[in-house]
Amino acid sequence: MSAKIIDGKALSAKVREELKKEVEELKGKGITPGLTVVQVGHVPASDLYIKMKTSAAKEVGIKDELVTLPETASFDELQETVEKLNKDESVHGILVQLPLPDSMKKKRVAEIIAPEKDVDGFHPYNHGKNLIKEPTFISATPRGVIELIQSTGEKIEGAHAVVVGTSSIVGKPTALMLLNLHATITMCNRYTVDLGSYTRQADILVVAVGKPNLITGDMIKEGAVVIDIGINKTDEGKIMGDVDFEGAKERAGWITPVPGGVGPMTVAALLENTVLAAKRIHNVED
Ligand code: GUN
Repeated sequence: MSAKIIDGKALSAKVREELKKEVEELKGKGITPGLTVVQVGHVPASDLYIKMKTSAAKEVGIKDELVTLPETASFDELQETVEKLNKDESVHGILVQLPLPDSMKKKRVAEIIAPEKDVDGFHPYNHGKNLIKEPTFISATPRGVIELIQSTGEKIEGAHAVVVGTSSIVGKPTALMLLNLHATITMCNRYTVDLGSYTRQADILVVAVGKPNLITGDMIKEGAVVIDIGINKTDEGKIMGDVDFEGAKERAGWITPVPGGVGPMTVAALLENTVLAAKRIHNVED
């Protein structure tokens, strides 16, 4: 079997096209969705991600803003900045770009953002809402992953979904969303013994670990939907995922490439959350 490619770029373009129309309609009602990204210091990779987010926001008509604090800013200064944005009626979505400088790593940054503007979905309140299946913001990557799976037309309900990687912002919320959509889920972590014995049972396999070639072709069930969230840079500067793409595509039914799979959908999902935030804040029916 040679897997069909799940084209994240094409799906993301389609989502953004639809968002453009929605933003246009909101503007007709006097509402311009606003997204503010707060950055502390400069991590080169973050600069690139932020540019992708703010340019995509602009393209669909969202008012974007970048607030950059110096590397030496204190947590109190960051909190003061975010609190101003919490109160600013022209801002509907707030995102504090990670990673933060080491001095802030142990601070509860997600908790300083007003939950109704937390378009990253990182606030414990929003994680909790997801847990009890109430309307919330689903973090951009998990939201994008679900949309990629749904785009294949393969059934989630009743499928066995195996998620490899248990981070609070990617693996856990993705597994929870799949569970909420009535999949049977198995979660694997770095301590899982005989990982392949689990992944080989997966109708849907989601991998978010950050280890190139962790998943080889023989670890994949024939016909599975494989979503590779890993972004790893080789010594030669090549970007690759956690799945051995060449081996995997001989067995999978569907597979996301890296780059061009999950990445573009993450940006689209963030924009969807921003529009959703604006609608909720202004009580516009979905
Ligand atoms: N850094 C890398 N990905 C993300 C993300 O989704 N949100 C934030 N805030 N920072 C990130």
